[in-house]
Amino acid sequence: MASIFPKDFFWGAATSSHQIEGGNTNNWSKWEKKTAEERVKHIPNWYEFPKHLLDEAKDPERRISGKAADSLHRWRDDIKVLKELGLNSYRFSIEWSRIFPQKGIVSEEGLEYYRNLINELKQNHIEPIVTCWHWTIPIWVDEGEGGFLNKKTDVCFREYMKVVAENFAKDVKYWIILNEPESIASKSYLLGDWPPGKRNIFSAAYFYYFRMVEWHRIGYEEIKRVHPEAWVGVAKPNVYIEPYNQHIWNVGIAKLGHFLFGQLYLKRIHKYLDYIGLNYYFHMRVGIRGIKNENDKVSDFGWWMKPFSIYYLLMDLKKYNLPIMITEDGLADSKDQYREWWLDETFEAMRRALQEGVRLIGYMHWSLVDNFEWAEGFWPKFGLVEVDPKTFARRIRKSGYYYRDLIAKERGK
Ligand code: NOJ
Repeated sequence: MASIFPKDFFWGAATSSHQIEGGNTNNWSKWEKKTAEERVKHIPNWYEFPKHLLDEAKDPERRISGKAADSLHRWRDDIKVLKELGLNSYRFSIEWSRIFPQKGIVSEEGLEYYRNLINELKQNHIEPIVTCWHWTIPIWVDEGEGGFLNKKTDVCFREYMKVVAENFAKDVKYWIILNEPESIASKSYLLGDWPPGKRNIFSAAYFYYFRMVEWHRIGYEEIKRVHPEAWVGVAKPNVYIEPYNQHIWNVGIAKLGHFLFGQLYLKRIHKYLDYIGLNYYFHMRVGIRGIKNENDKVSDFGWWMKPFSIYYLLMDLKKYNLPIMITEDGLADSKDQYREWWLDETFEAMRRALQEGVRLIGYMHWSLVDNFEWAEGFWPKFGLVEVDPKTFARRIRKSGYYYRDLIAKERGK
């Protein structure tokens, strides 16, 4: 039977600069060093933590990004595995601190790195899908300009976006200005788990509702100024939230959660979007007694795995009448035991959504290679491709080849 996926569908994988490049100096790298010793003490105890990952999880060195996957030097190897996997698109991000290492100073070397990456991808017929901000800020912005919450940062962000747009906008059609504003608002300002480690509901709300909206708008304007036909989107981490029973309170809580995390931000930036990027990881059952997930299958991270639920989120986003790209989707699976099943379920969900009229244009699996997973460091393994921590050699996992074959089948090859 003919495939329901459009001929020009983007089959890809995603990464972000700080998580794979290595050699970064930014607000995260500074915070990582300061907090590594403390963080290793907190091994999750609410699920059976995978024993074979304990040594890595307890090692403070493995909580520091350091050389990450060394993509700064091995980006050609990344392109090689993209090709081996038969992918026609790659989502990566530009590192602000690599472009602007200091106030007012643009690094030609930084620009050159992304220029080479974009050119080489295009020469290999791989569509670059570029994120402008995946959570890290230069230290000079953090310290000198008052950090995230300060309006002065908007000026710095515009300066950065101008340089990005002027150097790359003509060569790239698909842009994502911000990655998961809700994650950073909640982890950095509400829960205090990430830098700057604040716990203040008002700061979180302000950051989310105002600063993140303004940054998106700035990015949109700068890209469009240089390349009006470019498509600008956002990577939105929507969660499938349902009440654990039909009690009116539980239904209300689920609706509120869906509105706050799934809808509010999109409503705010709707006018400045050419497509919606969806990052999917979670299905949650909520109510007055908090979260009550079934957890019949959990990933190494302890996250309940319900891959098919992405279908419901795609259907829900249909109302915006915009094309949708899945900009992230994946799991931490060090033994590579669930990824094939996850992909099967997800492909089925995408087929159903396409059949029901969702304008789905691409799927980026998270992640191409094992990445530095923020506060957790290196123990969660999200990669289709395994990275040797010492040699940085890339080895495609069995599920990586499985993904390649699934795609080939859809393409009728
Ligand atoms: C979403 C984030 O964008 C990415 O940075 C992270 O690694 C994945 N989720 C997995 O947690």
